[in-house]
Amino acid sequence: MDFTVLIVDDEEEMCRSLSILFSKYNLHSIYTTNPLKVPDLIQANSIDLIIMDIKMPQQDGLGLLRSIKEFNSAIPIIMITGHPSVFNAVSAMKYGAIDFLTKPLDNVKLIEDIQQLASLMDDISNQDLPVEIIMKSREMQKLVDDVKTVACTEANVLLTGESGTGKEVIADLIHSLSPRKDEQLLKINCASIPETLLESQLFGYAAGAFTDAKKPLTGKFELATKGTLFLDEIGDMSVATQPKLLRVLQDGEIQPLGSEKIIKVNPRIIAATNRDLKAMIDEGEFREDLFFRLSVISLHLPTLRERKEDILELTARFIDQFSEVHNKPVTGISDEVKSILLTHSWPGNIRELKNCIERAVIFAKGTKIQVENLPSQYNQFENSITGNVLDHIVNMLTREQIIKALESTGGVKYKAAELLNISRKTLYSRMKNLGME
Ligand SMILES: Nc1ncnc2c1ncn2[C@@H]1O[C@H](COP(=O)(O)OP(=O)(O)OP(=O)(O)O)[C@@H](O)[C@H]1O
Ligand SMILES: [Mg+2]
Repeated sequence: MDFTVLIVDDEEEMCRSLSILFSKYNLHSIYTTNPLKVPDLIQANSIDLIIMDIKMPQQDGLGLLRSIKEFNSAIPIIMITGHPSVFNAVSAMKYGAIDFLTKPLDNVKLIEDIQQLASLMDDISNQDLPVEIIMKSREMQKLVDDVKTVACTEANVLLTGESGTGKEVIADLIHSLSPRKDEQLLKINCASIPETLLESQLFGYAAGAFTDAKKPLTGKFELATKGTLFLDEIGDMSVATQPKLLRVLQDGEIQPLGSEKIIKVNPRIIAATNRDLKAMIDEGEFREDLFFRLSVISLHLPTLRERKEDILELTARFIDQFSEVHNKPVTGISDEVKSILLTHSWPGNIRELKNCIERAVIFAKGTKIQVENLPSQYNQFENSITGNVLDHIVNMLTREQIIKALESTGGVKYKAAELLNISRKTLYSRMKNLGME
């Protein structure tokens, strides 16, 4: 098993004894007494788990935890301290530690936990992805690697990224790689239903809680308690509902509307949004404490224009899929279509590409998709680039070059031609075509 633990503690003795303990259980570890070296160590080694002290002279462990999370949010981190306080424990969890342990450490429990994590990671890295993710780009491969790492933990995950980038697909992947994979994954869209309905869907209600409540309703938190709850479009949750959600996440219990009962709940939460939650926090539209609870791990989905290598891969897959669905003999695309697909900016990301290809497959006449099969907006884009706009740009640049050359030769044309590395005749004819005489 190839599992590496990084130990960070200012006391060398502590590092050494943990390291010896781990090696007894075949766990590879490296250690440092200097927290300032941690970023480099993470870059240079493939680290699967960090165990880190809080009180260190060079840098405070909680500060380091925050900065590691900023540049590599996926590595699980366990914080340890000889000076436990509620403040430290709360801060550690808030900034994304998966556990908070006090010294002296319970070695048996620590080893058990690490072995469990290591074996889950091992299983995951040896299995095929249970959800189809088409990808070729390094960005997506890195993301999927991160997903594999975080899937084994219980940590809440926040998925951010533009609309159509695949947040829901990644949520499916996290759940199906997690130890909770045999339990339910329930999804709820916080944007599409009114506030009161959303709250009853999440927390449930008792019969008679309000006029129309003939029968009780079990909330999604309770239904998903052993599984995963996907809160989609979390940025659209109303300011009134946010504190109620926060309370449930903090206390791990719900009280359905109109009920006396308090019910313990413990679903793993994955939330997603295409909005900028940090900006919303500044505007007072999203609660910072809720943000911290949800974003123990935060993963960002790159846009399709940032990972152009995936475009043709996805296109091929969608052609396969839709030629079968629509019973068409389409197997590929023309070169012209290829260059359109590669240069388009895809504001709707993968969803837009998928829709575009579906339509093109339906309209295609032969085995290859042609420009005229694409929806008209892609067509026009192509026309304008190859037609007038491109000519115009080339003319502008040529004119500018000629003017510069003439300026530097004091208007002497044969010298300007020499400078431009063209014959005098060519210069004359270009100037004529550009209306420069
Ligand atoms: N890597 C991928 N491989 C194959 N299909 C993908 C991939 N990523 C996304 N898709 C497909 O693209 C579409 C959009 O993905 P998804 O619904 O997950 O996006 P989203 O980020 O949740 O979008 P929104 O913010 O609009 O809800 C879906 O049909 C999904 O199946
Ligand atoms: Mg979505």
